[in-house]
Amino acid sequence: MSAHYQNQQLWVEDQGVAALAERFGTPLYIYSKAAIEQAYQAFATPLQGRKHLICFAVKANSNLAVLNLLARLGAGFDIVSGGELARVLAAGGDPAKVVFSGVGKTRSEMAQALKAGIHCFNVESVAELDRLNGVAAELGLVAPVSIRVNPDVDAKTHPYIATGLKENKFGIDILMAPDAFRKAASLPHLKVLGVDCHIGSQLTQTQPFVDAIKRLMELRETLAQDGIELAHMDIGGGLGVTYTNEQPPKPAEYLAEMLPLIPPSLTLVMEPGRALVANAGLLVGRVEMTKDNGFKRFVILDTGMNDLMRPTLYQAVMPVLAVNQSQNQGPMSDLVGPVCETGDWLAKDVPLSAEEGDLVAIGGAGAYGFVMSSNYNSRPRAAEVMVDGDKVHLVRQRETVESLWAGEQLLAE
Ligand code: LLP
Repeated sequence: MSAHYQNQQLWVEDQGVAALAERFGTPLYIYSKAAIEQAYQAFATPLQGRKHLICFAVKANSNLAVLNLLARLGAGFDIVSGGELARVLAAGGDPAKVVFSGVGKTRSEMAQALKAGIHCFNVESVAELDRLNGVAAELGLVAPVSIRVNPDVDAKTHPYIATGLKENKFGIDILMAPDAFRKAASLPHLKVLGVDCHIGSQLTQTQPFVDAIKRLMELRETLAQDGIELAHMDIGGGLGVTYTNEQPPKPAEYLAEMLPLIPPSLTLVMEPGRALVANAGLLVGRVEMTKDNGFKRFVILDTGMNDLMRPTLYQAVMPVLAVNQSQNQGPMSDLVGPVCETGDWLAKDVPLSAEEGDLVAIGGAGAYGFVMSSNYNSRPRAAEVMVDGDKVHLVRQRETVESLWAGEQLLAE
């Protein structure tokens, strides 16, 4: 966690959270540059001396400053849309280190990525192979491809974020994969580069990853018999983080189990999102008021599901950190937002004595936080800042109310 208490006050690196909230207003996303750097090195260090490419899953946090920081550290990027590709390029990312995942790539997104010269397309269906071959032919180019295989392993995570089971829409079933590879190898405007899988997110055990890689290695042998040689293996993302009590393996522990399964002749590609940024971010809100209906105490913030969807969407339990540490004790309370929805809550039954005007932060908000926020109830999206030691950078200004209807029009008559 990037945040810590000092003299009973919450800090991010050398900046007091209360002062940041005063200066930039609330709701406010605060990221720690050092925490992102440390998380990146936790993956990169064990991979030294080995052919590898760490592709940050842009969907987890697509702020340009975050992408730029990771690009400078040497990261590549896993994208799922033309919009994410444009962001990566705007942030100074190297297209040659980009992999493109997703089940519904449009023709124009394919053309955009081909022209940019990305590293690889992670193809998720036979229909996509045909479409990509056609688009590459029109451009007179050859598309580098990996086939995303669905290895049918149970990631033992929340059903909304498990992706490697037969019933999920992702990838090509492992039993059908050899045919898909043969087809890819036969198409003139495709070049088979590798195989990939992504079995789910917020995994706290290594066994499902191990099972998936073993299946991919068997597939590699089958393909070799057909003369199809793979240059890389992409093991996806999915490594979990500690929000409250979870005990996921550390990146070094996870890699220590993965690396012996994959021959060093293969370039190891991975797509971590959450593990690089979740615990580098906080969402800070101010208490508007409190109320007790005789049954429950509610602490009502100026931020809610519009800024942070994870609690209501996945029943995710995220850490609550009163900015004044002494307020982490008190009556059991539900931390809720101002949005007119029963599901607008950030935490349930937490001890909290914060009152009107006090500040409360939610930890673990650096991944799938701002990126999933919305303007529901016509709420401008939050500002984002990045702390670097005793410096702070405004990396996204708060939206204005007027900007919410900037693309709208009254009826002409
Ligand atoms: N690669 C692919 C193909 C993915 O679909 C994902 C995430 C990742 C990599 C990165 O996974 P990570 O390392 O972050 O677990 N909004 C949800 C998580 C959705 C994950 C979707 N795919 C949440 O807030 O928990």
